[in-house]
Amino acid sequence: MHVGALVLGGAAALLVGAIERIRDPDPFGGTMHCLLSCRSVGCLILLAVLMVACDRPPDDEADRARERRAADAVRLADERFDPVAFEELEPLRPETVQERGRVIYEVSCAKCHGPEGRGDGGFVFQGDTLQPRSFSDPDWERIRVPMELRRMIYVGTAEGMPHWGIRGLRVRDVDAVAAYVERELIEG
Ligand code: HEC
Repeated sequence: MHVGALVLGGAAALLVGAIERIRDPDPFGGTMHCLLSCRSVGCLILLAVLMVACDRPPDDEADRARERRAADAVRLADERFDPVAFEELEPLRPETVQERGRVIYEVSCAKCHGPEGRGDGGFVFQGDTLQPRSFSDPDWERIRVPMELRRMIYVGTAEGMPHWGIRGLRVRDVDAVAAYVERELIEG
């Protein structure tokens, strides 16, 4: 974008300079005159202003696109979330579920939520400084309701919590990691 604008602007400045030179030959000016004539300098200033102006919209657009994608992902995951699928999971031994939950937590969650779930995983989400709260925050009522906790993990949020239900975890995995959070991290 910048290189293209620079080349175009430079070419325009030279062209304007050259046209001026043809229309008004100046025996003392030479090439420098072409380059530095008032209009070509004007062109360069215009180019600089355009480059600064062009710099902003792509950033805003990228932010807006990211927000739109996050909102779409939350909507899609929310549509897919089905509490019945959790209720109908084939029961496994609690130790098996805990072990699966621990592995998933360490692989997929600890980098943001921290090894103890205190929100100190240190992973800054795409330059966003939003930090998850500690799982033992007493004000965090919703995560104490089992199906709400599973819904949160499955659906995620537009503010940095991934949408696990549509990003690689199966219902069985979401259930296991939720059980791990409930047993090892909320209380502790
Ligand atoms: C990329 C960083 C990141 C990863 C990885 C991540 N989370 Fe989160 N999580 C967040 C952020 C940020 C929030 C706070 C979001 C908010 O307040 O909207 C959050 C919130 C939560 C919440 C509470 C949501 C609410 O709205 O109250 C739960 C529960 C949770 N995460 C569980 C998990 C589990 C389980 C995993 C692993 C399967 C996981 N998270 C992986 C960043 C992450």
